[in-house]
Amino acid sequence: MPSAFSLQPLALRMKNFISVKDVDNINALVEKALAYKKNPFADRNLGADKRIGLLFLNPSLRTRLSTQVAAKNLGMEAIVFNVDKEGWALEFEEGAIMSGNTVEHVKDAAPILGQYFDILCIRTFPSLKNREDDYSELVMNSFVQYAGVPIISLESATLHPLQSLTDILTIKESFAATHKPKIVLTWAPHVKPLPQCVANSFAQWVNAWGEADFVITHPEHYELSDQYTKGATIITNQNDALKDADFVYVKNWSTYNDYGKIYSNDPAWMLTEDKMLLTNNAKVMHCLPVRRNVELSDEILDSANSLVTKQAGNRVWAAQAVISEILPPSPKGG
Ligand code: CP
Repeated sequence: MPSAFSLQPLALRMKNFISVKDVDNINALVEKALAYKKNPFADRNLGADKRIGLLFLNPSLRTRLSTQVAAKNLGMEAIVFNVDKEGWALEFEEGAIMSGNTVEHVKDAAPILGQYFDILCIRTFPSLKNREDDYSELVMNSFVQYAGVPIISLESATLHPLQSLTDILTIKESFAATHKPKIVLTWAPHVKPLPQCVANSFAQWVNAWGEADFVITHPEHYELSDQYTKGATIITNQNDALKDADFVYVKNWSTYNDYGKIYSNDPAWMLTEDKMLLTNNAKVMHCLPVRRNVELSDEILDSANSLVTKQAGNRVWAAQAVISEILPPSPKGG
């Protein structure tokens, strides 16, 4: 039985949650997430007798735990499987002759997982070796093709939609709407080549949301794929970009064109208090984990302008809204 405070399904018709293209109405989903933040147990029985499987091919802190908490708030059982450490090595290539290190094909494993779980969630990172392979999203799409149950991305080779939904809701709840917010996504230095996922996804969601002046700033040669950035203003002078910003989203990514490389590690791109003076007393965001004093300075992370802890806390409500909308109506049989 739903509780007396049960939130109504939004009828968003989400079959999977892989990108912003799966969402009819971003604002409605954000409002639902914020309603769960006010009343976490409004739908405490919605997921009774249902199971959600969380498959990790790569590490996680926030995504894993926030999704588990969200499922628990909806009365679901969440089971985590660290495939990379505990499972058989999976093969994804169609027609592969499996005489190497892979032990089980995804077309055999995924339908079985679909019998165990009502929803399956997958985290997989890109190789950063072959752009065509990574951007084909073979791993995520294979689970969509073969599992037979809804799939939620916990970050894929190219996108991180639960993070981006959280980011929009954090912006909405942190901004008194006196004007259209100016949001700046800025590249930051890092010691390792990182995926483009968070930046791609943030750009895709902010563009689809359409309620901000959106600027992306990065050094030359760090262009992201224009399939995600189209609609944003792109500036290679960071100081110009930061002018009058209401929100600064800080993130490193490796090169997209000459794929997966570090061209520049210029520490001058790290956000500092001096640069913040150019902004409209901006709030600072980062998806975490963050390398302190490489990507973002202590002085910013420990300042009142930092939203990073609130942002990470909001991961629960975004996941809860998505799970509640995607949950199949009938309980799974034994
Ligand atoms: N932001 C984020 O996805 O964090 P984790 O990698 O710890 O899940």
